[in-house]
Amino acid sequence: MSIPGVTLHHILYVSLLAADRQFDVVGAISQSARRRNAEWGVRSVLLFDGHRFAQRIIGPSESATRLMQRILGDLRHTGVLILCDEPMVAGDAERGAFMVGYCDAELLDILDRRCDPPMGASALSLFQAILLGADLSD
Ligand SMILES: Cc1cc2nc3c(=O)[nH]c(=O)nc-3n(C[C@H](O)[C@H](O)[C@H](O)COP(=O)(O)O)c2cc1C
Repeated sequence: MSIPGVTLHHILYVSLLAADRQFDVVGAISQSARRRNAEWGVRSVLLFDGHRFAQRIIGPSESATRLMQRILGDLRHTGVLILCDEPMVAGDAERGAFMVGYCDAELLDILDRRCDPPMGASALSLFQAILLGADLSD
């Protein structure tokens, strides 16, 4: 997806499923996300443990930020905590426009320590390590 002259940006956050929602929201999110991400030239990987989300968004700075603004206002989740929001090292990218996977709650617990979360590079390496063991689909 790299376009000459366009700096890629990535954002990693964790959030909680809204109290009034069920885990079937993931199916609805996936449907529109797949289409929009392809349209906007953005890629994202969403992890869900039944209660909490972790997502990495990669794309040209403007599109990634615009998407994050929409996600921040989405009432299907709450308590969004951004762990990383910065220009990205070229070549370090995910596969499809949108991927979703399920993982154990203990793993997202480590990423999401509300008082003292891992930030930046350490949060990213943790997220990548969790992805290796997740059941991903696109
Ligand atoms: C946890 C979570 C992750 C999401 N991830 C994406 C995403 O990667 N791409 C996307 O377009 N929308 C994503 N959404 C949905 C957006 O917040 C928003 O609802 C969507 O962009 C609106 O699209 P629509 O107007 O086509 O329904 C996500 C929502 C939640 C709650």
